[in-house]
Amino acid sequence: MPSLSETSPLTIPSLVAAKGVEKIAMLTAYDAPSAALLDSAGIDVLLVGDSVEMVVYGEPNTLSATMDSMVRHARAVSRAVKRAVVVGDMPFLSYQTETARAVENAGRFLAEGRCAAVKLEGGSRVLPAVEAILAADIPVMGHVGLTPQSYHKLGGFKVQGREPATARQIREDAKALAAAGCFAIVLECVPAALAADITREIPVPTIGIGAGPECDGQVLVFHDVMGLTRDLRPRFVRRYADLSTVIEEAAKEFTRDVRDGSFPAAEESFSGGKVPALRRVY
Ligand code: KIV
Repeated sequence: MPSLSETSPLTIPSLVAAKGVEKIAMLTAYDAPSAALLDSAGIDVLLVGDSVEMVVYGEPNTLSATMDSMVRHARAVSRAVKRAVVVGDMPFLSYQTETARAVENAGRFLAEGRCAAVKLEGGSRVLPAVEAILAADIPVMGHVGLTPQSYHKLGGFKVQGREPATARQIREDAKALAAAGCFAIVLECVPAALAADITREIPVPTIGIGAGPECDGQVLVFHDVMGLTRDLRPRFVRRYADLSTVIEEAAKEFTRDVRDGSFPAAEESFSGGKVPALRRVY
């Protein structure tokens, strides 16, 4: 198989084949312009995460995400992407109540959101939903460890799997999801040694977030990586840009130019003649 960087468009089988050969780079994306940039930069997987609720809508956790909103964000991302695999994150209560509903909701991510796969949180307790979605030929990415939709049960966003019993449960959950047919599994906020063991023990890629360097891939939230979240800086985040400062400085400059009348200039204004129609292109 050709390497990931030589493959376009990427497919679910190409991601599975990358295990042990090449690391998978995954970021969250929520809108068309940023998805286009991430895609052309070579990010392999774009996750339309329910973290949109926190980083875009300013909510304290992900529990307020809805199917309609997630599908709309997914469609915006998919429209802009040529190479990356786009994964839709199934929101709270879209897969936990009935398996038939889980399949219908997962299907919306493919049919309306034009995603290639869905992700859902949890291990053994969500296996019936995972199996039903897989039976409809919808690829599924699992997610164990810190599952943010369990925010209230867990008492906040906390590292999971530090005690032998919880470590054992996470390990069994990851194995059960892989055995059911998930094509990859997110390991969130678990000790690096546990993530390394799971990565060795399952045949599909593990994608870590706060799970150490041994995972088959890494995922981070776009706003954290780009420095758009100033107040919150989890230990596992590496910031690759400081867009907060860039945006603030640009906005200050714009305000100054408006106030002193230097914007707009003559070349930024229309004359009476005919001008070509304007169109935005991403
Ligand atoms: O919603 C999200 O952004 C996620 C990632 C952190 C894995 O689930």
